Amino acid sequence: MARYTIVTMPGDGIGKVVLPETLRVLEAIGFDADYVHADIGWEYWVEEGNPLPDRTLDLLREFKLGLFGAITSKPKKLAAAELNPELQDKGLSYFSPIVSMRQVFNLDVCIRPCQSFPGNPLNFIRRTADGGFEEPVVDAVIFRQNTEGLYCGLEWTNPPDEVREALSSHPKYATFAATPSEELAISMRLFTLNGCRRIVTAAFEYAKKHGYKSVTICEKPNVLRETSGMMEDVAVEVQKDFPDIQHWSTNIDAQMMWLTKNPENYGVIVAGNMFGDIISDGFAGLVGGLGFACSGNIGDDVAVFEPTHGSAPKYEELDPPIVNPIAMVLSAAMLLDHVGETDQAKAVRDAVAAVVAEGKARTYDMMKLTGGPDSISQGAATSIQVTDAIIEKIG
Ligand code: NAI
Ligand code: MG
Repeated sequence: MARYTIVTMPGDGIGKVVLPETLRVLEAIGFDADYVHADIGWEYWVEEGNPLPDRTLDLLREFKLGLFGAITSKPKKLAAAELNPELQDKGLSYFSPIVSMRQVFNLDVCIRPCQSFPGNPLNFIRRTADGGFEEPVVDAVIFRQNTEGLYCGLEWTNPPDEVREALSSHPKYATFAATPSEELAISMRLFTLNGCRRIVTAAFEYAKKHGYKSVTICEKPNVLRETSGMMEDVAVEVQKDFPDIQHWSTNIDAQMMWLTKNPENYGVIVAGNMFGDIISDGFAGLVGGLGFACSGNIGDDVAVFEPTHGSAPKYEELDPPIVNPIAMVLSAAMLLDHVGETDQAKAVRDAVAAVVAEGKARTYDMMKLTGGPDSISQGAATSIQVTDAIIEKIG
């Protein structure tokens, strides 16, 4: 029997491309694992009315480690329209399965490293005063609270009277009191002390372990005084246990501007769910974009690793596949680190770095081409060729 069992969830679209390619890399590195397939995604919504079937949850409960590709999500009304006619009118409502999975297993710590690989033509460059340019090394690791905030799922269109009544206890409600319920939509931003403590502590611990000098809390406490304020207060407390690491604070809007001016100044960054999502895409754009953006969703018991990109439906039918497998490969390297196979994790990252530096096998995004079947004839490598190149470097 292998040492580890990994639940593999390719999902939809290009998830079905990048996950199998990544398994080839894990095999090449000698990762001692068995893989069990689990169903997730759009077809299970359409056919069964549940994009995250119980059998998938059972597998995750049993084996505790997951690799996930991507799913296709659609807004509520579109999703309802595509549901199998036999399941219509059963009161089923679509929820993103990855958001549900994070909540079911309390995968509350999301880590999104955004680190530049030398030689990547997509790396951020900055013009210098003398008209030249420089390429600062970006090494930011975003800690996104993954289960609360604006993703907590507490929302209403046409809120019931009880909700309106509860809101009316707040003085600020007066402005909205005359708006008819059917003209109101409410999405709640909810933080818990425990959720804040766990994400902030995880970030400081990571900073300590990996030698970062600061942890930046990126919120908006001047406006979101209660939720962002709670995160800030928690950071002040937690920092006391990490005297060598500075606690910095930025506002999300200013941070989005600064990250394109001086991204090298930031190391570990913590944010709530929505801001963490935004800021991690922002930093990902400086180090190669979605083709390079990896992540881990980590709870006490279960951990699931995934590229942050979605299912890119416009490329799903392409044969040969053209999308960049690196984000998924780097997500698997995070899994290796998580289980303590740090040498294998490093070997995977080194192989990716070598392929990027060499610059021979580049998917269309790295060639700055428009994606599509033509990109191959324009010199782009296929997903398979890039994976082959990574495996070759592993040797
Ligand atoms: P997306 O990430 O699927 O694609 C956006 C664009 O980024 C693509 O058109 C492509 O140009 C590029 N891209 C993405 N992955 C790439 C890769 N590996 N290599 C090269 N280029 C890549 O986001 P989009 O188009 O907003 O959403 C498509 C579907 O994916 C939607 O249904 C959305 O809900 C879902 N989605 C799922 C996520 C997940 O599974 N965690 C995350 C984000 C979106
Ligand atoms: Mg996102």
